[in-house]
Amino acid sequence: MKKNDLKITYQVFNNVQELTADDFVLAEYAIKAADTAYAPYSGFHVGASLRLKNGKIVNGSNQENSAYPSGLCAERVALFYAGSQYPDTAIEAMAITARTPGKKLKMIVKPCGACRQVMAETAMRQKSPFRIILIGEDGNGLVFESIADLLPFSFEFE
Ligand code: THU
Repeated sequence: MKKNDLKITYQVFNNVQELTADDFVLAEYAIKAADTAYAPYSGFHVGASLRLKNGKIVNGSNQENSAYPSGLCAERVALFYAGSQYPDTAIEAMAITARTPGKKLKMIVKPCGACRQVMAETAMRQKSPFRIILIGEDGNGLVFESIADLLPFSFEFE
């Protein structure tokens, strides 16, 4: 057997103003999108915004339900909405942020495994990677140029 290593690449920023102008605007949309979260059970408000290749912005927020598994993460709300409304338009970038009103979130929230899987298939469908920008409450964050850096070895079905 042979041992392999895998390298992932991402960028770190201290302030959203370090992002490109378009990505800065997208980050602002994601922060605003978290306002529409319906999260009475977790108190965890997530916003996700997509910029499509045609310049359109699609926003999503997490939507919970008293039957817990019926709820959906912000990322998938945005991705599935984009897929249903603009099936032929590729995504260029995605911004994600979260906050817990009344209590400061110290960490930068990373998307859950299920959302990463949907991101991976979206990138595969559109045949191009899209940038993923994770924004912390202090405006700091991480940038991944491709879901491959967040979810190596994603499930694929031929
Ligand atoms: N949530 C998201 O919207 N995105 C993630 O990447 C992780 C978790 C939501 C689901 C649920 O409404 C709440 O955050 C707590 O898990």
